[in-house]
Amino acid sequence: QLISLIKVPFGYGAGRMGSELGPERLLRWGLIEQWKELGYVLDEPSRILLKDQWSDKAVSVPLKNASKVLSICTALASEVKLKRDEGHFPFILGGDHSIAMGSLAGLTADGGSLGVIWMDAHSDLNTEETTPSRNMHGIPLAVGLGRAALRLSHIYDGAADIDPSKTVLIAARELDPGEKELIKELGIHCYTMHEIDKLGIQKVIDEAVDITSSGTDGVHLSFDIDSIDPTEAPGTGTPVQGGLSYRESHFAMELLYEAGIITSCDFVEVNPRLDRNNRTSKLAVDLIGSLFGKRIL
Ligand code: ARG
Ligand code: MN
Ligand code: MN
Ligand code: MN
Repeated sequence: QLISLIKVPFGYGAGRMGSELGPERLLRWGLIEQWKELGYVLDEPSRILLKDQWSDKAVSVPLKNASKVLSICTALASEVKLKRDEGHFPFILGGDHSIAMGSLAGLTADGGSLGVIWMDAHSDLNTEETTPSRNMHGIPLAVGLGRAALRLSHIYDGAADIDPSKTVLIAARELDPGEKELIKELGIHCYTMHEIDKLGIQKVIDEAVDITSSGTDGVHLSFDIDSIDPTEAPGTGTPVQGGLSYRESHFAMELLYEAGIITSCDFVEVNPRLDRNNRTSKLAVDLIGSLFGKRIL
């Protein structure tokens, strides 16, 4: 299958800048060569840059850098839709996690039903009302599920809300009060670190695969690097102790590859400015390798 790499060097959705440097850093550590070695064909990578594209006046978003975030998301949504319509695998390389609103808007615009696996220390389920930080990378999943004032359809015409029953959170360990309420109210499947410890990552991924792939037309993996423990992935803006181990994260990616269900992916929140010896960038490239079938033997 043809991969379309969509680079989004954008960091205005996070509390501190630096994740806009992510795409070029991962490319420097061999991301494209790795795909080629694995036998994939890539089309010319695209790069989404800030333009004045967001013209919706129906909603004003009272959060930090909102107009920049919305502009980038609208531009990203149309690129994602274009590539998906061609039958390619859109791989969206961030950037901070606010850009996932653009991915989700583009992926839902064809009317199909989309499963979502959200691997993250957080749930990104705050709304304009509940956000404690007013940073837009804390809201993309609430927007995707139609629970915020801002909707995917404001970002891209024809985009539709995602079904919470086809959404799975993995590796959550730092949830704000409003987020916990929303998880309970919507009955979102949430595998916190507690469930991962108890069941093991294999069972968690197996269940996530079942939940998100049955009755859907595709499954989007939204992977926040802060899902991994900060000892392995220090280069990220909102690190939280007690995350996935090196092996758990690789095994999760290998299992997702074997399941063969993932049809698009965001890979976000690598912040090279906060990294140590490029540890996080290199890990990110390795993990993407595992997600696309790289094996030890
Ligand atoms: N829940 C916090 C907030 O709303 C942190 C969100 C962190 N999100 C992320 N994509 N790293 O600000
Ligand atoms: Mn093509
Ligand atoms: Mn996130
Ligand atoms: Mn996070």
